[in-house]
Amino acid sequence: TEGSCMSFTVVGASGDLAKKKIFPSLFALYYEGMLPENFNIVGYARSKMTQDEFHDLIASTLTCRVENSEGCGEKMEYFLSRCLYVSGQYNEAADFAQLDSALSQAEGNREANRIFYLSIPPSIFIDVAKNAADNASSKTGWTRVIVEKPFGRDSQSSKALSEALALSLTEEQTYRIDHYLGKELIDNLAVLRFSNLVFEPLWNRQYIRNVQIIFSEPFGTEGRGGYFDHYNIIRDIMQNHLLQMLALFAMEPPVSLDAEDIRNEKVKVLRSMRPLDMENLVIGQYKGRKSTNGQDYPAYLDDPTVPEGSLCPTFASLAMYIDNPRWDGVPFLMKAGKALNKRCAEIRVQFRHVPGNLYKNATGLDENLLTNELVIRIQPDEGIYLKINNKVPGLGLRLDNSRLDLSYKSRYNKELPDAYERLILDVVNGDKRLFIRNDELEAAWALFTPLLHKLEDDKIAPELYPYGSRGPIGAHYLASRHGVRWGDLS
Ligand code: BG6
Repeated sequence: TEGSCMSFTVVGASGDLAKKKIFPSLFALYYEGMLPENFNIVGYARSKMTQDEFHDLIASTLTCRVENSEGCGEKMEYFLSRCLYVSGQYNEAADFAQLDSALSQAEGNREANRIFYLSIPPSIFIDVAKNAADNASSKTGWTRVIVEKPFGRDSQSSKALSEALALSLTEEQTYRIDHYLGKELIDNLAVLRFSNLVFEPLWNRQYIRNVQIIFSEPFGTEGRGGYFDHYNIIRDIMQNHLLQMLALFAMEPPVSLDAEDIRNEKVKVLRSMRPLDMENLVIGQYKGRKSTNGQDYPAYLDDPTVPEGSLCPTFASLAMYIDNPRWDGVPFLMKAGKALNKRCAEIRVQFRHVPGNLYKNATGLDENLLTNELVIRIQPDEGIYLKINNKVPGLGLRLDNSRLDLSYKSRYNKELPDAYERLILDVVNGDKRLFIRNDELEAAWALFTPLLHKLEDDKIAPELYPYGSRGPIGAHYLASRHGVRWGDLS
């Protein structure tokens, strides 16, 4: 409403996430005209900083989306003029009272809504949520709080965290972010399934042979080893990002596009999953490698922040099943790893063989290569393609497996918004479709906790793989035990 305003406080303003994602996203939203007309951006952290130093810090993180775009410099200046820094401790009520007066002053006499982004380590989540809620929440409008993973390490710690947060915040106020849900191709999954006639009828055990959810990064933990070693790749990537993709992929059609209707369906998928089995898990850890040009790639254990002899997996692969009528017997394979050969996130859907295929012997192609495969490429080179068989033009009969290809770059030729932009905008608008509900989080932990405990209690040693490789060979054996061949490797 006119005359109202929004204040956005980044708690942990000097941290990495704030610099890399949160401030640039806020600027991009302002630049696109998506923020309320009256807004304040407030940084809160322990370090002492003058307003000028804070402006410099933010300015160094901002870029204009289109280079030399008109008015970008002016917009940056205006944006910076709306940024304010407050320093304080995370566990001091009095410091949050100061934050409150700084906010009130910036808000003037307007009605004001407040958002707090807790971009801080989990050990101080609870203190900060309590202090912000008790001392700095809005008196004239709503207050919303964004929290980032890790939401605990297992069911028990996650429950304790949720209960403690719930003393200060209602579920309605709490926005649990999983930035993968803000990615364009993941947001598009429901559109692909539910607005096209040609996919949904095939989206079940009768036509789909297996589903592969793949994440790889070409770099190691690079200085984040301290955090990572406490969590490992399963907690860092699988239990949240990949499992969310699986839920959206596999859910039943929701009653409507309402946040609650969608999340009801996602949680049902999670609760229908068969308990995970150690037999269906392969773990790996990267070891150092000297490349042919002499460059040294460090081992995970070379990271000085990693405890000596750590067994922490930096790669994992898992076969999972959803025991419901739609997916009974269809293997869902996940694979996630750091320090692999490339950056990639995708979902691959391999369809069944054509029954009584007339071309089975006529082609010279392996039957596996003759099956259709739908690839949803989340990054890089966002797009969707479907592998189909086609006759190679010309005399004679030869088949070729080729792509019907929807490349976002050639079709839309526009830069996609960062996941954080979309999600922050959703918080501003109160749209919870892309945020994790408490019961989803519980179901995700219920699924992974027994496996994680077993892995850690039994001190299972990971298979070593060279930095920059395709990961441990065990992942191939795992796939073939489930009748699957990884689509990204063939
Ligand atoms: C984060 C993980 O959630 O996601 C990181 O903690 C990982 O380890 C990152 O690198 C990957 O995100 P993106 O958007 O770069 O694929």
